[in-house]
Amino acid sequence: MFSDLSRRYDLASTAIAFGRDRGWRDFAASKVDGAAGMILDVCCGTGELSRRLVEKTGGRVVAVDFCREMVEVAREKFGGRERLSFGVADIERLPFPDETFTCATVGFALRNVTDIRRALSEMTRVVKRGGMVIVLDLGKPGSSLFRKLYYLYFYRIAPRLGGFMAGKGAAYAYRYLPSSLTDFPAQRGIERMMRELGLVDVRLYDLDMGIVAVHVGKKPG
Ligand SMILES: C[S@@+](CC[C@H](N)C(=O)[O-])C[C@H]1O[C@@H](n2cnc3c(N)ncnc32)[C@H](O)[C@@H]1O
Repeated sequence: MFSDLSRRYDLASTAIAFGRDRGWRDFAASKVDGAAGMILDVCCGTGELSRRLVEKTGGRVVAVDFCREMVEVAREKFGGRERLSFGVADIERLPFPDETFTCATVGFALRNVTDIRRALSEMTRVVKRGGMVIVLDLGKPGSSLFRKLYYLYFYRIAPRLGGFMAGKGAAYAYRYLPSSLTDFPAQRGIERMMRELGLVDVRLYDLDMGIVAVHVGKKPG
């Protein structure tokens, strides 16, 4: 699905988010601690969060995704940049030794992985003691009135708009958009899982009334 979508992903995702996705990624990248070191961006897709991590921190970024076509697009866009490299890897089986990175990030992807706990556990494993795990993803708004309005858009209009922007060959990908959120434990569920995995100082930031949430946790030193 992501292979078919790779060439139209940026256009389609920015269209359904009315361009807000750029600010959401900026916000997540701004949560990386000053002493940046080496950052792992998993499920990097076309590299939009990865390149912000390079720009907003002084660190080096290793960006991986399990979809080769997505990585190819990312390399075409940002391959020449200093401090940024791309590779192919599955978030549930990261090919890195324990405690390699100062920070691990994942943007708009946990909803799509088979085993969320395992994915978070892998991110935590490869982060050094005192390092950070940052999750950026869609959320479920707290206000019931706003949630109703938003769900009307998200469940009925966004899949059609995304499908239209993705074009014939990839339109089907947006049929899965609604279920990816319905089954996602979102704000409180992710926060609980991060704590259960031993992360501390877990903070939750709701953006745009909870349409999107950023979770930041620290691996104890
Ligand atoms: C919606 S895109 C998000 C891309 C990017 N992080 C962003 O902010 O735009 C989700 C990405 O997750 C990747 N993905 C899904 N499951 C994965 C897994 N198990 N391991 C690695 N990447 C995965 C997909 O290939 C896709 O590129």
